[in-house]
Amino acid sequence: MFRIGVRRFATAARRSAETAAQLEGSNKYGIGVSKAQGIVKGLTGAIGNTPLIRLNHISDATGCEVLGKAEFMNPGGSIKDRAALYVVKDAEEKGLLKPGGTVIEGTAGNTGIGLAHVCRSKGYNLVIYMPNTQSQGKIDLLRLLGAEVYPVPAVPFDNPENYNHQAKRHAERLDNAVWTNQFDNIANRKAHIETTGPEIWYQTKGKVDAFTCATGTGGTLAGVTRYLKTASDGKVKCFLADPPGSVLHSYISSGGKLVERAGSSITEGIGQGRVTDNLQPDVDLLDGSLHISDERSIEMVYRCLDEEGLYLGASSCLNVAAAEEVAKKVGKGNTVVTVLCDGAYRYADRLFSKKWLSEKKLLDAVPEHLKKYIVLP
Ligand SMILES: Cc1ncc(COP(=O)(O)O)c(C=O)c1O
Repeated sequence: MFRIGVRRFATAARRSAETAAQLEGSNKYGIGVSKAQGIVKGLTGAIGNTPLIRLNHISDATGCEVLGKAEFMNPGGSIKDRAALYVVKDAEEKGLLKPGGTVIEGTAGNTGIGLAHVCRSKGYNLVIYMPNTQSQGKIDLLRLLGAEVYPVPAVPFDNPENYNHQAKRHAERLDNAVWTNQFDNIANRKAHIETTGPEIWYQTKGKVDAFTCATGTGGTLAGVTRYLKTASDGKVKCFLADPPGSVLHSYISSGGKLVERAGSSITEGIGQGRVTDNLQPDVDLLDGSLHISDERSIEMVYRCLDEEGLYLGASSCLNVAAAEEVAKKVGKGNTVVTVLCDGAYRYADRLFSKKWLSEKKLLDAVPEHLKKYIVLP
């Protein structure tokens, strides 16, 4: 009885092995996917390892492989999950943060959301300072993710009441608390040296000719540039992509002259008035920079949606516009990588609103045949 049972099992196993082999051969989604996914330990294990998406239309039109790292697929919805995880891990490793401790950051955007997820999953409290010019939606979202939020008057960085300085002072007043200081804490850059850069190198099997992205803290651009330059012996060309109102394009193209910040952009999370500690070590590795106007970023929001099926925020679309320009610059047959930082969900009431686009004088930036996507009044 028992023997028969074993033989039956062995036959069934052989049969299922054949089926598995056939599946693997005939269905590329079969075994491969189950091997790739595995089980990750908690939310933090789901950060990173994002797909690298070939932007088909732009690739075909330029004759290059133009690839976007799908950072909107992180659990908190943006590239900033990586930095959030690394600044918290760094504080833990340095003994600054112990169980039940408090993380404090000055941020109006994705870093706060990333930190909120990471802090909840690790059992830390989170306090966020932000300028009081930010939308109620952002404040509500952070509060519903468990953060204590302080909207404070929007004053320049050199004013002691600036939200970043207030965050720092708050941490100094508490025990077992850390100001994670995303702009100048190089654990942020390290996240991209240890994860984003190697992932791009691995996913392209080392066949990457150029990389471009915009900077907020500079962590992504610096870390990925450092890794790709090192892995390729300096061969990968790396370019900063800069929105209006940021000083970095002129800093890089003038060979290091820092000018006063002037103008503004509709993009969120990017643009910078100084060279942060995250960017500083790698700024000289850059091969150049590109200025991308808001008109081009907006046009790309609609093109990515229509041509690629990708619903992306404006910083991602600025990056795609930059990648398209870099592809034309480096020429056919090259592989150009950029970053799809977050989705359009949090910005839809602006990016797809006729009133908002008109107020920003960006309605004409939307190609005529794509105006059908402007569905909000
Ligand atoms: C939407 C978005 N894109 C891009 C960035 C820039 O990334 P980094 O801070 O690594 O320069 C940020 C940063 O907050 C962001 O929120």
